[in-house]
Amino acid sequence: MTGDHYFTAEPTIPAQPREVEFSVAGRDYTLASASGVFSATRLDPGTAVLLRKADLPAPDTTGPLLDVGCGFGPITCVLASTAPAATVWAVDVNQRARDLTAANAARVGAARRVRVAAPDDVPADLAFAEIWSNPPIHIGKAELHELLLRWLPRLAPDGVAWLVVARHLGGDSLHRWLVEQGWQVDRHASQKGFRVLRVTR
Ligand SMILES: C[S@@+](CC[C@H](N)C(=O)[O-])C[C@H]1O[C@@H](n2cnc3c(N)ncnc32)[C@H](O)[C@@H]1O
Repeated sequence: MTGDHYFTAEPTIPAQPREVEFSVAGRDYTLASASGVFSATRLDPGTAVLLRKADLPAPDTTGPLLDVGCGFGPITCVLASTAPAATVWAVDVNQRARDLTAANAARVGAARRVRVAAPDDVPADLAFAEIWSNPPIHIGKAELHELLLRWLPRLAPDGVAWLVVARHLGGDSLHRWLVEQGWQVDRHASQKGFRVLRVTR
């Protein structure tokens, strides 16, 4: 046993390798995963709802797109595959998650367009056409708010953010909080207890 959380910077639990299979928009994915990262054995149900219900990027977009809290990279790989001209930034605090996302970007043939980074290593002058996230609710409310206040302002003026949050983990209160912060928030979809929020300026 260890005290690791999935958002530990350097997981100490041995990296038992795994593969996760799923399909999005008619495309099949087989991605590498490992213990010590979020939802290591299957596509998280919230992420599945997000990828099914949100509007995937247009095939001709160049981005840049951002996946906040990329885990082993399922959202990043779907974005990079759906938008084959786009640059996708994949950010996570967990080194193992970043390594897996880089490996998975190579698996889907997008290694040269996927930039995997720790949060502090994203260039400050980049504005994102789209931000996608299944955010880390378990880091705590204040920390989650801080995370969103850090990244949402990085949206381009006409950019859109797609978030998924379980209703029982505060999806509706997060919606209200985002509105209080001045964001336009649309509950785009609700399925299996998950809210898919579309956030714009
Ligand atoms: C709910 S998981 C989603 C993972 C992946 N996107 C997926 O759908 O399977 C949230 C991720 O956020 C990461 N995380 C936690 N705190 C973070 C922070 N301050 N900045 C960036 N990522 C963070 C965690 O390590 C975790 O991988």
